[in-house]
Amino acid sequence: MEMLIRRGFIWQSFEIYGGMAGFIDYAPLGNNLRRKIENIWREFFVINERVAEIDTPLIGVEEVFVASGHATSFVDIAIECQKCGRVYRADHYIKDKLNIEINSSIDAIKEILEVYDLKCECDGNFSEPFSMNLMFSTNIGAGKGKKAFLRPETAQGIFIAFKRISNYFRDKLPFGVAQIGRAFRNEISPRQGVIRLREFNQAELEFFVHPREKKHSNFREVADDELTLVDKFEKVHRITLSKAVERGIIANEILAYFIGKTRRFLLKIGIKDEKMRFRQHKDDEKAHYAADCWDAEVLTSFGWIEVVGIADRTDYDLSRHSKFSREDLSIFISYSKPLVVKIKKAVPKMDVLGPFFKSKAKKIAELLEKIEFEGEKIEIELEGEKIKLSNEFFEVKEVEEEITGERVIPHVIEPSFGLDRISYAVLEHSFDKDIVKGEERRVLRLKRWLAPIEVAVLPLLSKEPFTTKAIDIASLLRKNGFYTDYDDSGSIGRRYRRYDEIGTPFCITVDHQTFEDDTVTIRDRDSTEQVRVKVLDLPEILKELMTSEIGIENFGKRFQ
Ligand code: GLY
Repeated sequence: MEMLIRRGFIWQSFEIYGGMAGFIDYAPLGNNLRRKIENIWREFFVINERVAEIDTPLIGVEEVFVASGHATSFVDIAIECQKCGRVYRADHYIKDKLNIEINSSIDAIKEILEVYDLKCECDGNFSEPFSMNLMFSTNIGAGKGKKAFLRPETAQGIFIAFKRISNYFRDKLPFGVAQIGRAFRNEISPRQGVIRLREFNQAELEFFVHPREKKHSNFREVADDELTLVDKFEKVHRITLSKAVERGIIANEILAYFIGKTRRFLLKIGIKDEKMRFRQHKDDEKAHYAADCWDAEVLTSFGWIEVVGIADRTDYDLSRHSKFSREDLSIFISYSKPLVVKIKKAVPKMDVLGPFFKSKAKKIAELLEKIEFEGEKIEIELEGEKIKLSNEFFEVKEVEEEITGERVIPHVIEPSFGLDRISYAVLEHSFDKDIVKGEERRVLRLKRWLAPIEVAVLPLLSKEPFTTKAIDIASLLRKNGFYTDYDDSGSIGRRYRRYDEIGTPFCITVDHQTFEDDTVTIRDRDSTEQVRVKVLDLPEILKELMTSEIGIENFGKRFQ
């Protein structure tokens, strides 16, 4: 953390006013790193899928969150010390002090407080536990205005645009919609720095499927990937995804596909496989909207932390928004071949209906023809009057009917990524120390494609003509799209260390020979090896190096 703050990855927000827990500034390097992670996420979850990305407001009107259930169910239980006034999130305090995992119900917490006579750190007694909604509320417009909330997840913006979205995809399932953006949760007492933020960044995908669909057409791509699963009974499995589905550990291929895809994404950005596991939520742990959920968890100095949740939200959200908005959010699915079904129909006997019902007979006959017949008697309603008809008024016939499709409310599988925790975990997993020439050095072994500063151009000596030449090379590289730094302060060794510490994969050095043959050295952060290449070839070479993991020894003359 000291390095991240000093070198400009993250800063405490509102620092000159004393700061506020749960908020961070993305400083220049951290901001660039997170943006790069977002772009790789897009490659994995948008560009290579039948997925479109949208961007919806951060503020949502009250109706959205009443329908979604967040207004009533998105709560944590708090306890307040009656002596010092400190407020704690009850389940976290109980876990810290007693190492007991507890489901967050007021009664369960009350009982624990009493049985264990749990007190505040100042030895004060706690108040009755109370629940607190985690959404920040606000008002839109002047005066009392309209009640609204800052969104607690980006997902709701997707669900409420479903009609338009479905239309965009020509009502053809499956399709997905992604959103990357800020979400807000008024956490009770966040004490884990960057791990529990009140304003945070999500990358979410809502993948809409037919309710009976259990397969994913790309599952094969990840089927043989082996990973660590912890099921809801806490049983650990090291298993391939195809076996996990076969044995019913993961409920279906769609969930398994996104678990596999998530793992590959995390590997791509440098999360270590041996520090990654997928843990299924226990039955009493799931969010109010989820029927099943697997978290990607990553081991950090904070312990195992959840960085991604992959939830089966069923038709919960679309059904609730359908009900509350009175908009039909189902879609019509045509069968590839119409289904032919046999049904019983009542065929009116006009010669009996006519004399009995007179002027109403025709309308009754029309209603009868529309009814699928099930029993001996039929009851119909005509202009508010209920009329019972026994089988003397109709004949029963079996007829074949073609059904061309059905209306369904799609189900949703949702991989939801916490970008802040992911960025932090990437930094922890990349942070390393080694010994170079007898000296300890700190090195951030970020994947090359994530480096906030991709290349540093350094004059060997901070004087002419070295400086001007280095500035020109830096400008050439910037024009070729590289995030490039120029640095002429301090010894060359110190400058290399500085760039090692922030994860810059390559340093270019202008030295005496540069003025003889227009060559420079490229130094590799990880091996500290150097090779000499022509200045003109630099953009091409760096392009190849930045998108791969090949060693620099493949280019130019070995130097060291
Ligand atoms: N959309 C899931 C979550 O925000 O946790």
